[in-house]
Amino acid sequence: MARKQVAVFASGSGSNFEAVAHQAANGAGGAASSYEVALLVCDKPGAYAMERAARLGIPVLAVRPKDYPSREAYEADVVRELRARDIDFVVLAGYMRLITSTLLEAFENRILNIHPSLLPAFPGLRAVEQALAYGAKVVGVTVHYVDGGMDSGAIIAQEALPVEPGDTAETLYPRVQQVEHRLYPAVVRAFAEDRIRLDGRSVTFEGGLD
Ligand code: GRF
Repeated sequence: MARKQVAVFASGSGSNFEAVAHQAANGAGGAASSYEVALLVCDKPGAYAMERAARLGIPVLAVRPKDYPSREAYEADVVRELRARDIDFVVLAGYMRLITSTLLEAFENRILNIHPSLLPAFPGLRAVEQALAYGAKVVGVTVHYVDGGMDSGAIIAQEALPVEPGDTAETLYPRVQQVEHRLYPAVVRAFAEDRIRLDGRSVTFEGGLD
């Protein structure tokens, strides 16, 4: 089976981008991977994600949304680039903007996101800080389909982890990211292998996540 072509969108550090790309390069258990990260789309020129891409030998599309007259015009240009590269699906990894119908319709049910909370708790920015401020005893990670809302699409996978006494965002977030770096590549792989089914808001898997 041909490897699926994946575009990762990132605005910041890109550690999830690297985790997803790393698994693609290594495959599972030495087997050829089911997908290839063919492109990094970065809307913050200078973001560390771009340095990671250079190191990994992954092409970068650096874009400046503010150079476009509208969000739709910006996304239409990005969609053209994705189509030119035969991209099969899109993985958002710390991409700090809401998607419009232009991208959503071009890649219907083919856009994934990761969020550092157990959604629907604590959507939006600084989710780990929000959870700590609320006094949550358990936090976690959610991978979900993207729709037009803020972290509101159908949930694909979640993993919880405990808050330890005395935790601050500085001590807790690295543990959350460790979970992210394991969970996201596993979900992307299952998605590339067509093992994830969406029916309304209900998501089912064929086989497991590894
Ligand atoms: C992650 O915590 C992810 O859940 C959220 O943005 C962060 C991106 O981190 N959507 P990184 O750039 O992948 O390190």
